[in-house]
Amino acid sequence: MPKKKRVLTGITTTGSPHIGNLAGAILPAIKASKKKSTDSFLFLADYHSLIKNKDPELTSASSFEIAACWLACGLDPKEVIFYRQSDIPHIMELAWVLSCLTSKGLMNRAHAYKAAVSENKTKSNKDLERGITMGLYNYPVLMSADILIFNADVVPVGLDQKQHVEMTRDIASRFNHHYGEIFKIPEVSIEDEAGVLPGIDGRKMSKSYNNVIPIFLNKDDLRKKIMKIKTDSKTPGEPKETENSSIFSIYRAFAPEDQTRKFQDLYKEGISWGEAKELLFELLKNQIQPFRQEYKELIKDKSALEKILLLGAEKALDISTPIINKVRKAVGIRAFGD
Ligand code: TRP
Repeated sequence: MPKKKRVLTGITTTGSPHIGNLAGAILPAIKASKKKSTDSFLFLADYHSLIKNKDPELTSASSFEIAACWLACGLDPKEVIFYRQSDIPHIMELAWVLSCLTSKGLMNRAHAYKAAVSENKTKSNKDLERGITMGLYNYPVLMSADILIFNADVVPVGLDQKQHVEMTRDIASRFNHHYGEIFKIPEVSIEDEAGVLPGIDGRKMSKSYNNVIPIFLNKDDLRKKIMKIKTDSKTPGEPKETENSSIFSIYRAFAPEDQTRKFQDLYKEGISWGEAKELLFELLKNQIQPFRQEYKELIKDKSALEKILLLGAEKALDISTPIINKVRKAVGIRAFGD
């Protein structure tokens, strides 16, 4: 039997996820993880989160909440290797080894670093490196270690992360060239941007725009949020356009196709915005409330969740251990006489 492809992706553990994340990332990743033809690795990038989070309570709470969220939304830890980055110390070890081969010039070109420098420029800061930590600067090296420690074949990410996977390929080739073929050169797989949802103000749904619909709202708050979605000024009875309608885009992301078609017909027939919002509320309530119920159950028992993650870590360590051993040996970190 051919070896199964290893598909690996990381989840940043900052902030609470919204329905845009749910439709664009969480549900598609869970669906992909059920494929029998691949081995799926999904992890909480908690050490990455230290770049943004300096509050220990928040760091720990976010990791817990995001783990509970993915499980509540249907991730099955039996089908996926689901673990915390911090439970796999080999990742940090490999990050150091890789950083000793990675040229500084490569990191100078990383988008996140360049964006931070250019923000200092815009603010006319004399020190262009102001506020930039080594964590932010080295971010792509840590991400390379996340990927290479399991010899992943495919890395599904959003477009903003493509450069990091390209850097990983670069770093892996350099290592293989110098020390011998140890790492697979991973392929990037870019997630469908069509999954990006508009927020309640019509711009892309994003925490930084403060326009999100959180996943785990209670019914009343969910309804209130939906009623705030911006629309044009067409009156009831006037035909409405589905294009550029946030209500429609969100509806389509969660409804089966035939139901979306019916909703589209209602637009043509001149459904009022109020009614359209009610229908969206009904849909989201039905789709999301089961997740919310499950989430409420999961967060009651922290030790059960801890156990799930430790089991995941055990499976992950089975794979990372022989690889880090090869790396240590290859670079010359070994017992005297070996
Ligand atoms: N940087 C990714 C993001 O912001 C998360 C991440 C960390 C990741 N390590 C990874 C994704 C390894 C894929 C592979 O979304």
